[in-house]
Amino acid sequence: MGIRERALELLGSGETFSGERLARELGVSRNAVWKVMNQLRQDGYGIDAVTNRGYRLVTAPDRLSETEIRRWLRTKELGRKLEIHEQLDSTNNRAKALAAAGAPHGLTVIADSQSGGRGRMGRNFFSPEHSGIYMTCILRPDCAPDRAGLLTSLVAVAAARAVEAVAGTKVKIKWVNDLYIGERKVCGILCEAGLGMEAGKLDYAVAGIGINVGRMEFPPELKEIATSIGNETGSAPDRNLLIAEILNQLEELYGELETGAFLEESRRRSNVIGRTVTVLEGGRKYPARALDIDDQGRLVIETGEGRNCLNYGEVSLKLNERGTEK
Ligand code: BTN
Repeated sequence: MGIRERALELLGSGETFSGERLARELGVSRNAVWKVMNQLRQDGYGIDAVTNRGYRLVTAPDRLSETEIRRWLRTKELGRKLEIHEQLDSTNNRAKALAAAGAPHGLTVIADSQSGGRGRMGRNFFSPEHSGIYMTCILRPDCAPDRAGLLTSLVAVAAARAVEAVAGTKVKIKWVNDLYIGERKVCGILCEAGLGMEAGKLDYAVAGIGINVGRMEFPPELKEIATSIGNETGSAPDRNLLIAEILNQLEELYGELETGAFLEESRRRSNVIGRTVTVLEGGRKYPARALDIDDQGRLVIETGEGRNCLNYGEVSLKLNERGTEK
């Protein structure tokens, strides 16, 4: 860790540090401390110099920054290697290429904007600059490919916990891959897998997460169905903190992929269970009552013809009949 990173870590505690103490802790001269503080200010950090007391960090810039993400990261593996880009076509595309070339478990690709952000079922994901989180984490789960189907649900629970903790607002999950605040979508998840040469073995999975964070103006076709954390709560959380918290939560839950223990929380957070939904399956469209999420992460529905379990890959749901996919 460089002097600058170490200085940020110390100041990140919220304490005020005298120049002398900083110099001692960093093992540099007071003049070098003064230079680092000025550099940090130039990079957008708000650092107060309090007479007779020293330096205090008051604000961090809202730029995606590896140093800032690391400040909040408590993981052993996830996000320990980061790639941050101004723009990519899609962080999932970049992560898949890296994974296929042998990139390690946990490497995370982040972009400030995406020119071709992808959603499920061939849809686009609106990914404007400076206001969202577009990140993809490479995972190498040591499990049968059928358990990997649960990954989307696990990632949804991790992201819901993180958004709730950082933004202080309730977050629901619309089975299987959307997070909602109130009646609108704030986050979409797209997990994709790469099969290995060995039959029945998963080589890698990528977990792509897109979150509308800042105050955002949505295009007309999304206005009714999408929202952002900033639009809902009146203030936008720090994207670096939220990225780190997602990785923290994901690593904490990851071990439950085998057991499916996290599914209890998926059920608790579901805004679908107990409601009538419209199922869009293949070319068919029919109403059904959502009853439960089973132990394989499938949605249990009831129609006039009886009970059925929907696999996450096959359906799209409408929460209501307003004619807009949610
Ligand atoms: C959906 O709403 O159907 C899923 C949206 C997933 C969007 C994220 S943004 C980061 C990652 N890169 C992509 O191209 N897609 C995912």
